[in-house]
Amino acid sequence: MLETDTEGVPQRVATGRMPAWDEVEEWVALAYERARPVAAGTVADYIPVLAEADPESFGVCVAEVDGSLHSAGDAQVLFSIQSISKAFVYALACDAVGHERVGDIVGVNNTGLPFNSVIAIELNAGHPMNPMVNAGAIATTALVPGDTAEDTWSAVLAGLSGFAGRPLELDERVYASEAATNQRNQAIGRLLQSYGRLDRDPLEIVDVYTRQCSLLVSAHDLAVMGATLADGGVNPITGQQVVSADVCRDTLAVLAANGLYERSGEWLFEIGLPGKSGVSGGIVTVAPGKGAIGTFSPPLDSAGNSVRGQRATAYLSRTLGLNIFASDDRGSNA
Ligand code: DON
Repeated sequence: MLETDTEGVPQRVATGRMPAWDEVEEWVALAYERARPVAAGTVADYIPVLAEADPESFGVCVAEVDGSLHSAGDAQVLFSIQSISKAFVYALACDAVGHERVGDIVGVNNTGLPFNSVIAIELNAGHPMNPMVNAGAIATTALVPGDTAEDTWSAVLAGLSGFAGRPLELDERVYASEAATNQRNQAIGRLLQSYGRLDRDPLEIVDVYTRQCSLLVSAHDLAVMGATLADGGVNPITGQQVVSADVCRDTLAVLAANGLYERSGEWLFEIGLPGKSGVSGGIVTVAPGKGAIGTFSPPLDSAGNSVRGQRATAYLSRTLGLNIFASDDRGSNA
């Protein structure tokens, strides 16, 4: 008997398996070795503390939905999660208030413009467009329940820690550095308020958003967080149901359309998986039903995406057979 979704429609899920454990080990090591010599890219410096990142630091981790982990390089080095938090806070908001409400207020369509664009808000009559750009992320954080901003922060912290399977901590220096320089995000909060898209104190919500971006994670954490989205919301290490399976499906669809900002189309074409990048150099990439890839390397391309992270992820998507659009010609008629 098939399970039904929230609308009562019977549903199956796409299936497929990772290669054998020792093969995944080898491909992860090779992905790391191939991407390591790549020297292109620039470390972000618009948040002053981020400029201190070591450009040589590079880590890769694959987490499978059965809890297997495969790491290479600096997979345990901690860095601030930055925009990658947007994916998980979106999932928490949908789980709490339903994806229809989040969709009405925030939307799911790509802006084609940089992550912190103010023009995108104006061009769309105040609509933030999607939860992966700053306007949509700030509006999404405001939907996470809480009587006060402090309550909302507690819910965000607990939720992201549930995805990671361990209590996450704030990088106080990154938080202070971004809080002192985030006037543009404050302006975005005010603009959303002026369009009636934010019914909470904009500066308090931008502060919660700034804190969520300053949480410390590793490539290992990103892989586990992503694998939770790949596994119907169940953390593969702790077994905790963090969000529902429907929320995971919706979140991954939003990531496929918007996770790499104005490069989302190129990313999907090249890698064929939902992913999310952040300016400190992290990328999480999710293979539904199979697992996830977490990478960390600070040098970024001109759109703000980690250069080595993209290389390693593209290699793993192919070698592990993860691209959701790929098939072979050995069909039933062959
Ligand atoms: O809002 C900001 O500017 C940062 N806290 C997050 C930016 C970010 O990671 C954009 N990603 N590529």
